[in-house]
Amino acid sequence: MQTKVPVRKRSSLKAKYKQSVLRIESKVIKCPKCEMTYASTSLNDVSMHDKYHNLHLRGRNWSSNWGIVVKDNVGNLPKSKRIPLSVQSTRSSKSNGSGNEYIAMIRPNATAEVKATLEIMGIVNNELNAPHDENDFWTDEKGQGRAFVYVKDNKAVAVVTMEILKPGRGRWMVYETKSIVDGMRPNFTLGISRIWVCRTQRANGIASMLLDVAREHTIYGKEVNKFLTAWSQPTESGGKLASKYNGVIHKSGKLLLPCYV
Ligand SMILES: CC(C)(COP(=O)(O)OP(=O)(O)OC[C@H]1O[C@@H](n2cnc3c(N)ncnc32)[C@H](O)[C@@H]1OP(=O)(O)O)[C@@H](O)C(=O)NCCC(=O)NCCS
Ligand SMILES: [Zn+2]
Repeated sequence: MQTKVPVRKRSSLKAKYKQSVLRIESKVIKCPKCEMTYASTSLNDVSMHDKYHNLHLRGRNWSSNWGIVVKDNVGNLPKSKRIPLSVQSTRSSKSNGSGNEYIAMIRPNATAEVKATLEIMGIVNNELNAPHDENDFWTDEKGQGRAFVYVKDNKAVAVVTMEILKPGRGRWMVYETKSIVDGMRPNFTLGISRIWVCRTQRANGIASMLLDVAREHTIYGKEVNKFLTAWSQPTESGGKLASKYNGVIHKSGKLLLPCYV
């Protein structure tokens, strides 16, 4: 009798322990705002989600020393007056602006700003399901491209990476069907490798402004026409932006987007 008591106790404890483990393991949830799936019972997962969530929704903290300001006081202009930026005066300077909204170009040799931008690109590539290793063209000093961020209230809320295209990469895409037009090899000068705006700042014209400024500053001293700027596999929302920004109507009546491979 006496010997059976501890045995019974042990086995009931074991059963309880098993139950609680099962319950804990099943707490994998998907955040409805940032769509990250994570285990709410894992401290590591919770802190990773917090970081991802904040960046995804509100952007990344940005030091006022990072980047060359290529467009200052952007947010002070009403949306209707913001486009095209090419006809407004642009202050190119090595010092940063005082306004709380500006566009900065990333310097490849400035480690801290490159690292911060790569962190944003991690989020962007996750959202786009895109490869994470396509940054050399803007991180290398001799790279054929540039990255730009839109800074608002000390946060980088949007990013664009632009690459200079070699001939032969241009294609036309039919907007409706997403199919590539056979046999056409248009020459485009710039490729929009990635463009992303944090969730809370979308639909304010930020992506369009970033593109305008990026076309002006990717090639030193040469503004590239928007119709010579192509998209890399546009997403659903990217396609809508592209159709408004630089889609062209073909004589067949179809809307075509400039793209590249
Ligand atoms: C695509 C994206 C960059 C657009 O950024 P944004 O700052 O909201 O775009 P803008 O405000 O400059 O849009 C300009 C115009 O494009 C069109 N447009 C852009 N996004 C649109 C969307 N999701 N739905 C419908 N139209 C859209 C609209 O006509 C808009 O003008 P309007 O607001 O005056 O109607 C943003 O939605 C995003 O980051 N998406 C996730 C990442 C992504 O898909 N990137 C594209 C890769 S190709
Ligand atoms: Zn979230």
